[in-house]
Amino acid sequence: MGRVQISPSILSADFARLGEEIAAVSDTADWAHVDVMDGHFVPNLTLGLPVVESLLKASALPVDCHLMIEDPDRWAPQYAELGAGSVTFHVEAAHAPIRLAREIRHQGARAGMALKPATPVEPYVDLLPELDMLLVMTVEPGFGGQKFLDVVLPKLRRAKAAIGDLDVWLQVDGGVSPETIERCAEAGADVFVAGSAVYSAADPSRAVEHLRELAERVQQ
Ligand code: DX5
Ligand code: ZN
Repeated sequence: MGRVQISPSILSADFARLGEEIAAVSDTADWAHVDVMDGHFVPNLTLGLPVVESLLKASALPVDCHLMIEDPDRWAPQYAELGAGSVTFHVEAAHAPIRLAREIRHQGARAGMALKPATPVEPYVDLLPELDMLLVMTVEPGFGGQKFLDVVLPKLRRAKAAIGDLDVWLQVDGGVSPETIERCAEAGADVFVAGSAVYSAADPSRAVEHLRELAERVQQ
């Protein structure tokens, strides 16, 4: 089982103060999760390369870019080139996922591939050695604060089994909270994205610690 890592999503933070919002969790979190949405692959629109470039300068945490965009083959390597520590594209949008994962790694970032809730893992099992992380979405991508989809847990277990001894992290994103994180950890996740559970808390840094404690207790 991989080490528990917590990646707070700034989608639920105050967008006028993103640097400070990342700083508020820098002592306890492992990553800053940045959701890039283009208004096409998902209905919502957030931010793109120029804002990520500024966040990379402001953040003491490595940046975990989750690209919910069309044509990631064109855009994802540029996030890696800017210095994002991890770049995740959606397989539903990628034209050539193997080539894309290789390009992301070539630019010096960890390569992540994401599956929407209804996308099966089985067709992509042979791609796992090309990846550093598999993201199994536990809500329909596009918005923060949605209800966790328990229906995805069997896929998470199958993904964990398919990863086996490979050095591939298994990330969950969507509805991860103190109520649901243990279910995710039990099913094999080791990297946990949490937006509203962190940034709606009175003390975001403490919320990260609490999530980590709950997940680590399951792993013991
Ligand atoms: C949703 C985003 C998530 C979002 C999660 O499409 O990918 O990262 O911020 O938010 P919560 O944790 O509130 O479900
Ligand atoms: Zn995300």
